[in-house]
Amino acid sequence: MPLFFSPAKVNLFLRVLSKRPDGYHEIASLFQVIDLFDELYVDFAERDTFTCSDPELPTDQSNLVIKACELFRNKTNTSASLRIHLEKKIPSEAGLGGGSSNAATMLWALNKLYGDPVSLDDLRLWSSKIGSDIPFFFSLGTAFCSGRGELIKDEPALTPASLYIVRPPCGLSTPRVYGTLDLSTCSPTSPEVLLDAFRKGQPQYVNDLEAPAFLLMPKIAELKSELCQKYGQTIMTGSGTALCCFSDKAPVLESGVFFTQRANYIRRLPNEWYGSINDKNLY
Ligand code: C5P
Repeated sequence: MPLFFSPAKVNLFLRVLSKRPDGYHEIASLFQVIDLFDELYVDFAERDTFTCSDPELPTDQSNLVIKACELFRNKTNTSASLRIHLEKKIPSEAGLGGGSSNAATMLWALNKLYGDPVSLDDLRLWSSKIGSDIPFFFSLGTAFCSGRGELIKDEPALTPASLYIVRPPCGLSTPRVYGTLDLSTCSPTSPEVLLDAFRKGQPQYVNDLEAPAFLLMPKIAELKSELCQKYGQTIMTGSGTALCCFSDKAPVLESGVFFTQRANYIRRLPNEWYGSINDKNLY
């Protein structure tokens, strides 16, 4: 059964600029793909089936994989039955973009299975209807994202970093974190200054969603401070709850059951999807 790797992302900075009339927030963020992958198996079949290794995740129409599949079928007037299996490795409600990546990977996979009838630009544009973070995965792996997050500007490769992803045992829902945000507490540093700092290899890690996430779950703030003191610069990714800890050493934590994994920044080649850890698209 054809296998497509579905990678996670991190936000190296995330500024929230304003609340929009449509209820979303205007953001400016540097997104980077990392080599932490879900595995998506997709093939033509006699009837539609969708299975997932994580029993906690819904496998109905609310799953972004199914939404992506329906979107592709509607836009391309195709209806062949599919067998889909998703092997989850990326923690949910972590700010790692797992669901969004699954949707983008599903669109890429369907386009491949049908012999590339659609341009990547179309897939990217369509995908923004079902989630703000999905279009990013059609970049080459590093992008400055604005609007709701769906407006993508590809960025050159960043200086590689030694990074660990640490996620506390509980997750947070994105709407809840945005709903708790007080815009007056956001960083005064402009996204342009932050982007320029990354381009020069002098990263300034900022995430305006840390304050509301820390209010909702003080444990993340404690974890961040422990990681900063013992290991190095640490920033929450997206709306949390995972933290990116920039350290050469694997963090060993005093309490709690944490998901901890070493990660690398990765990119994809223009006509290929993201691959596994030994592939050539790894830095
Ligand atoms: O677009 P997506 O479905 O991923 O967004 C989930 C929720 O996160 C939105 O309904 C909204 O509450 C919040 N959100 C936001 N501003 C953004 C992105 C998401 O307020 N830029």
